[in-house]
Amino acid sequence: MKLLEEKILAEGRAINEDILKVDSFVNHQVEPLLMKEIGEHFAGHFKDRHITKVVTIESSGIAPALMTALALGVPMIILKKEPSKVLNDDLYQTVVTSFTKGTSYELTMSRNFINENDHVLIIDDFLANGEAATGAIRLIRFAHATVAGIGILIEKSFQPGRQKLEEQGFEVYSLARIAGLGKDTIEFIPEE
Ligand code: G4P
Repeated sequence: MKLLEEKILAEGRAINEDILKVDSFVNHQVEPLLMKEIGEHFAGHFKDRHITKVVTIESSGIAPALMTALALGVPMIILKKEPSKVLNDDLYQTVVTSFTKGTSYELTMSRNFINENDHVLIIDDFLANGEAATGAIRLIRFAHATVAGIGILIEKSFQPGRQKLEEQGFEVYSLARIAGLGKDTIEFIPEE
């Protein structure tokens, strides 16, 4: 998506060869108009997949996921990272390990909002190692729902996330695919 690539080139900063900082429009400050365009773009791409729910992982996935859900006319579900503070039998939970942050967390989804009739679109801001998306897929499968696709804003194509998800048979649709990061350089894989 040209608009997102231009934004990344204008405001993104590679803080090392692995991490791209996009705090001014994705992770800290959020640009509503850009998110609206992103949501409409994802909705256009996935329009024939009979999506019934959009699922994201808190927190930075929420803005683009909400805009996608709005454009598709379906609800959005936020997967939580905090373990439940009250005893609750109505939850699916799975442990996700983040290699980027060196931490693990318990990804949690209520049993009340997804069932076997749902076709779920997963939306997230970054795809690095694919662990968060794989955890989301596990939860969706616990509910016997179908994963209809995965939409990513920024894919770091030099990390193994896409391959891991494609090997499981999922379509990964990324708006910006980063081939490499260097001091003062951000290189994209050209759009097909
Ligand atoms: P993975 O799911 O693909 O395996 O990614 P990983 O666990 O390694 O990433 C963990 C967190 O780090 C995620 O945010 C992800 O969005 C973020 N992240 C990964 N690579 C980058 C990067 O190059 N730049 C930025 N800005 N973030 C990156 P999170 O912990 O879920 O935080 P949140 O922002 O959604 O709250």
